[in-house]
Amino acid sequence: MLWIAAAVFVVVIGTLLYGTFRRRPSSPEFEERPTRKRGATRAIAAGAVATLLILFVYLVFDFSVGHALGASRRGAFEIELIGHRWWWEVRYLAPALPARITTANEIHIPAGAPVLVRLRSNDVIHSLWVPDLTGKRDLIPGKRTSIWLQAATPGVYRGQCAEFCGQQHAKMALLVVADSRADFDRWYAGQVASSAVPTDSVTMRGRQVFLENACALCHAVRGTPAAATIGPDLTHLASRRTIGAGLLQNTRGNLAGWVLDAQSIKPGVDMPPNHLTPGDLQALLAYLETLR
Ligand code: CUA
Repeated sequence: MLWIAAAVFVVVIGTLLYGTFRRRPSSPEFEERPTRKRGATRAIAAGAVATLLILFVYLVFDFSVGHALGASRRGAFEIELIGHRWWWEVRYLAPALPARITTANEIHIPAGAPVLVRLRSNDVIHSLWVPDLTGKRDLIPGKRTSIWLQAATPGVYRGQCAEFCGQQHAKMALLVVADSRADFDRWYAGQVASSAVPTDSVTMRGRQVFLENACALCHAVRGTPAAATIGPDLTHLASRRTIGAGLLQNTRGNLAGWVLDAQSIKPGVDMPPNHLTPGDLQALLAYLETLR
């Protein structure tokens, strides 16, 4: 393409210089001669045809290169990332992977492998931005967009919503965790598994608190009757590094504060305040911590 463009450039500039500096007879009748007019028309037609031909060759190149690029990434798996105010829903799509799983605010990918992230929004325009991995791409309601994610080396890469989407736009972060292939497979197998079954009286009580209070109206925990999709899927909540969309470390204390009064931490989120007795709260936290 460079050499063809260079040749076109030389021809165009050469013709221009020739037209500028050639000696022309001064008599006006000379310009009106029919043979000259015909020659000029023919030159213009030749130029147009050559341009079309060259563009067509470029088009063929473009298709074949695009096809080759697509083929080299075949076999990559796909993640669906759905923007919510103000958190990220992450779905791993079968069939490239053995099962469909849903998690939130934390994307695990195998380091060194390209991953196609399909983006959509549940409400307003958000934008995915993981500065160390890729540029920004908008999540637009009613429109499907996508972006390739690839991390050369294992590590944790912070991402941030990069399009103002309301009051808590600044607190809409996510983590991209690039694992070695073995670690990724282990993580994935853990996510596919159903939620932990309570084995002692405290966590059994915690599960009961979860199911009988407002929690189960918005959240899902696979393996229990809780299957709501308004808030993040909590099946493996304890395996995640943060809560509140990258806002707080996932510790017992932060979780307690979030459960009791998320509004004071992130005003405007859908999570309502929960009035729990200390005993119920501790049991609930103990249960949530088993959801690894
Ligand atoms: Cu979502 Cu800003």
